[in-house]
Amino acid sequence: MTEKTAALKKDFEMQILAAKNTADLESIRVGFLGKKGFVTTLMQGLNDIPKDKKREAGQAINTLKQFIEEAIENKKEELAKLEWQKKIDSSESYDESLFCSSEKGSYHPITLIQREVEKVFETMGFVIENYSEIVDDYQCFESLNIPKHHPARDMQDTYYLSTGQLLKTHTSAAQNAIMKKYGAPLRAIFPGRCFRNENIDACHENTFFQMEGIMIDEDISISNLIYFMKTLLSEVFGKNMDVRLRPGFFPFVEPGFELDIKCLICDGEGCPSCKDSGWLELCPCGMIHPKVLEYGGIDTEKYTGFAFGLGLTRLAMMRYGVKDIRIFNSGNLKAFSQFEG
Ligand code: DAH
Repeated sequence: MTEKTAALKKDFEMQILAAKNTADLESIRVGFLGKKGFVTTLMQGLNDIPKDKKREAGQAINTLKQFIEEAIENKKEELAKLEWQKKIDSSESYDESLFCSSEKGSYHPITLIQREVEKVFETMGFVIENYSEIVDDYQCFESLNIPKHHPARDMQDTYYLSTGQLLKTHTSAAQNAIMKKYGAPLRAIFPGRCFRNENIDACHENTFFQMEGIMIDEDISISNLIYFMKTLLSEVFGKNMDVRLRPGFFPFVEPGFELDIKCLICDGEGCPSCKDSGWLELCPCGMIHPKVLEYGGIDTEKYTGFAFGLGLTRLAMMRYGVKDIRIFNSGNLKAFSQFEG
């Protein structure tokens, strides 16, 4: 270390020791590393240094610069913690004289629709289960007949925790645990928040809600599935709903379907909302794959079952005529106050 850098280091250490808050820290940073800071000036002065000493001087300045940067980062963290603690400890965090709105709050539209759907299924003998948002690979994929490297995983990239666990990409992730908990016969619905690594736009969100349902018993067939879905949708929309099934592929059901409802806007005539088809895709579903039943400890000789994954967020958009999905996570009270439940 050269004499100059050694002196600067000493000076810096004294200053940083005395820094009381993040504002102090910022002025120290500017003083040393800013455009006209000591270290920057030193660096600019390198040209005037004799050739044989240049290399050593350059290295010394770089080492000093790194030292200062690291020290500032560490101190910043330390000060930020202290400042928070101070705020929490002081009465400053709660001011009784602050204006308080007397406006009444309202339920979130997703909560409203969730409760409505729950009520309908409850009257049909379904239990309602709450399930964790953090799951493991087995629950989210393996137990649903989606082994590692299966292409179905491509559509469901999500957020992974350092523990190897992940944020569930679909409510189907609870199927295995719920089958194991109750055994057969079983009627259960389990709503929940789901997460996917999505590019966000008016129709896509990285956080959304689904409601999964399963029914397992002797002689369960596709007719049961259609009956339950029709009943549910007719209740939710307050009128008799026309539905249709199209083939759809999901590794955990066989056969699998996409359930469509007749477009609510044009009543099947064709309009921009249904891309002129007269139908809207609402709920993928199917007969539970025997492997999935087996993983859940269900006797496949005796029992069959259906499963469906209702897009609650999607349903709320249709029901309330919301055109942009981003509203739901926006916290925009003005928007939400319209959905009085
Ligand atoms: N879990 C699927 C998804 O989010 C949706 C789904 C498809 C659920 C078919 C089901 C089903 O229960 O039977 O993409």
